[in-house]
Amino acid sequence: MLRVLVCVSGGGTNLQAIIDGVEQGSIINTEIVRVVSNNKSAYALERAKQAGIPAVCIAPRDYEDREEFNAALLRAVDEAQPDLIVLAGFLVVLPKQLIRKYENRIINIHPSLIPSFCGTGYYGLKVHEAALARGVRITGATVHFVDEGTDTGPIIMQKAVTVQEGDTPEILQRRVMEEAEWVILPWCINLIANGQVTVSDGRVYLSE
Ligand code: GAR
Repeated sequence: MLRVLVCVSGGGTNLQAIIDGVEQGSIINTEIVRVVSNNKSAYALERAKQAGIPAVCIAPRDYEDREEFNAALLRAVDEAQPDLIVLAGFLVVLPKQLIRKYENRIINIHPSLIPSFCGTGYYGLKVHEAALARGVRITGATVHFVDEGTDTGPIIMQKAVTVQEGDTPEILQRRVMEEAEWVILPWCINLIANGQVTVSDGRVYLSE
């Protein structure tokens, strides 16, 4: 069984897609062992509770400084002994120590086709605002391994989504979630759980 820890900050629709995937069998050999939020009022915590998954909140304001927060975050992760950490809308810059310790065992979902509209400052709705402002016809989502850069790690999977006339950032965000994020994130977890993902020289290889 792949022990998965999911980090969240907000609504948790991607967390829900993972919970549903495990319950419905599109993700096999996987157990969600813990949900970690940096935000007490994240609806994702309610979703975890409803699914009976242990959840903890590690909020920066509860700690003296960034170092203490980082240490608490690392403890909360280590305690759960995860094989895989999934960043599902987690809007915290991960401590380097955590990234190094869990190299090639942390994945992130980003709401654009990397390398477009990614990096520092591109998160949540801002990504879709930027895509609309640039006038792209195609956008999408990317699942990638997390390295020490921002959205720079090896890409596992991408799915394109069409931009439509009259889209607002909110409408586009919803379409990217429905058509791409909630599809490829559970899919990638299932591939990892079944040993079908390898990383070599910064590239990802998928096998049958
Ligand atoms: C998702 O769209 C995810 O791709 C994005 O935040 C949203 C979280 O929604 N992540 C980033 O922008 C990371 N750079 P959710 O809480 O409903 O899953």
